[in-house]
Amino acid sequence: MSKDPVTRFSVSMPGSLVRQLDELVRARGLANRSQAVAEMVRARLVEDHAQQGDHEIAGTITLVYDHHRRDLQAHLTDLQHDVEGLIVAVLHVHLDHHHCMEVLAVRGRAAAVRQAADRLLAVKGVQHGALTVTTTGKGFGP
Ligand code: NI
Repeated sequence: MSKDPVTRFSVSMPGSLVRQLDELVRARGLANRSQAVAEMVRARLVEDHAQQGDHEIAGTITLVYDHHRRDLQAHLTDLQHDVEGLIVAVLHVHLDHHHCMEVLAVRGRAAAVRQAADRLLAVKGVQHGALTVTTTGKGFGP
């Protein structure tokens, strides 16, 4: 196995996030922050690879946002109508007085699903969101 030289680089992030990273390192028994970050980057790269290209994927896009911002809700709905061919079902949950969660079941070409998710997650005011990809079953045996 050839040795992959290590590159050092500095990362800036909010202090509270670093403290939580340190807790994760301790809880998971990792050697240090670098190991934790490298593991996260690898996982993200694998995930991104699965979300590119022409093969069909299915998955969910989860969005959490403040429902008092009516303009935001309208904007998210507009975007969902733009990509309606990809969205097969929508689940809306009123999380608490302020927050709504929407779970969109999506199905389509990987790149198109990824692009739709990126557009929705980039909307200002979306507090948390994620695309989770599963398989449509094609190519995974009988
Ligand atoms: Ni709601």
